[in-house]
Amino acid sequence: MSKELAGDLAGAALSARENAHAPFSKFKVGAALEDESGDVYTGCNIENATFGLTLCAERVAVFKAISEGARRFRRMAIAADTETLTPPCGACRQILWEFCGDIEILLCNPRGKSEELRLKDLLPRAFDASFL
Ligand code: THU
Repeated sequence: MSKELAGDLAGAALSARENAHAPFSKFKVGAALEDESGDVYTGCNIENATFGLTLCAERVAVFKAISEGARRFRRMAIAADTETLTPPCGACRQILWEFCGDIEILLCNPRGKSEELRLKDLLPRAFDASFL
């Protein structure tokens, strides 16, 4: 966990991406999740020889944050080296919704391209504990 200056969240996601363990897909992803006090929890994708046990960067960041006691979040930056900015997969959208709510999502690449979205627009009419 670390503190990032405003605007540096993309940099934290890009740095985390360097730690990706992606020997099978070679597709490296980084994520940086900022909590309400400005602390930042990073994650990278971690692949596995069975493929199916692969963890996405976004979920690694969320679970690191939760495991360290963070509970309220503001935004997440997600970094991949694609021209069309890489959005979170469906499974990550669900986990982000349940643990973070309608946070800001900042997509970015190493060449400075970025786009801001809201999670509710990426996961409309989400299922969550309010239905149980
Ligand atoms: N991946 C992520 O980490 N996050 C995403 O948003 C999309 C996909 C990873 C999973 C796998 O290691 C690789 O990218 C290719 O799917």
